[in-house]
Amino acid sequence: MTASRPRRPRKASSLRLDVVTIFPEMFAGVLRHSILKRAQANGALAVHLHNLRDFTHDKRRTVDDRPYGGGPGMVFKPEPIFEAIDSLRTAEATVILPSPQGERFNFRIAQELSKASHLIFICARYEGVDERVCEELVDREISIGDYVVTGGELPAMVVIDSVVRLLPGAIGHEAATVEESFSNGLLEYPQYTRPVTFLGMTVPAVLRSGDHQAVARWRKLHAVARTMSHRPDLMTQATQQQARRTHRSTRRGGR
Ligand SMILES: C[S@@+](CC[C@H](N)C(=O)[O-])C[C@H]1O[C@@H](n2cnc3c(N)ncnc32)[C@H](O)[C@@H]1O
Repeated sequence: MTASRPRRPRKASSLRLDVVTIFPEMFAGVLRHSILKRAQANGALAVHLHNLRDFTHDKRRTVDDRPYGGGPGMVFKPEPIFEAIDSLRTAEATVILPSPQGERFNFRIAQELSKASHLIFICARYEGVDERVCEELVDREISIGDYVVTGGELPAMVVIDSVVRLLPGAIGHEAATVEESFSNGLLEYPQYTRPVTFLGMTVPAVLRSGDHQAVARWRKLHAVARTMSHRPDLMTQATQQQARRTHRSTRRGGR
C-alpha cells in the first residue's frame, strides 16, 4: 500500500500592481476585503498606491489644465504622469489606462493580465489624459463597457479584482474559477443551496442525488441552455471554440 503524499499547496505567483490616482483612498475598501485581502496576505499580490499629486512641483499640486482648442472640462497634464510612470516602470511592466475608448474588457483579457508580473494603472478623471500619455506611455487602453464613469478608479478596481481572482493561490479553491461564467465560453449553470424547498420552489432532484456524472450532465446542459437564452452571442463563440478543439484533436489523432 502506498501512503498518499500530503498535497503541497500551490505556490502563489506574485503580481505587483502600481496604481496612480488622485484618489488613492478610494481603493482602501476594495483592497481590505475578501480575495484581494487574502491575495495580499499570502503573497500572491502586492499593491502600491501612488498619489499623482506627489509627482507635481507647484504649490497647488496641479494635475490638470484646460484643453487646447477650447471646450468644457479639464485634461490631465502629461508631466506628472510621465514622471510617475518613469519612476515606476520596470522591464516587465504593462501600463494600463482605463478608458471608454479602449478594448472592451473580458475574460480573455483578464486571463492575459493574470499572467503578468507587473501592472501599472493610470487613473484619469475629468476629460481624460493628454494624448501624448497614450502615445508614449500606455501599453493597453481598457474599457469596462460602452458607458462613461467619472474616473478611472472604478474601472481599474473592476479589472484588478477579476485579474487577481485568476492568480494561482489567490482564491483558495481554484476549481471555482475553472467552471465560472466565461471560463469555458459559457455562462455558469444555475446554483442552489439549502433549503430544498423554498416558497414552493424545489431544488432539482438530480443535484441532490449524489450521482456526480448526472450532476455534471445536468450542469453542462443548463450552462448551454442558459447561454443560449441570455447570451446567444457567446454561444456562437463557444460553438466555434468547440469546433476548433474538435478539429485540433482530430488532426492530432490523424498523425
Ligand atoms: C469622465 S471620463 C472621460 C471621458 C472622455 N471625455 C470621453 O468622452 O472618452 C474620465 C475617465 O474615467 C475613466 N473611464 C470612464 N468611463 C470608462 C469606461 N467605460 N472604461 C474605462 N474607463 C473609463 C477614464 O479614465 C476616463 O478618462
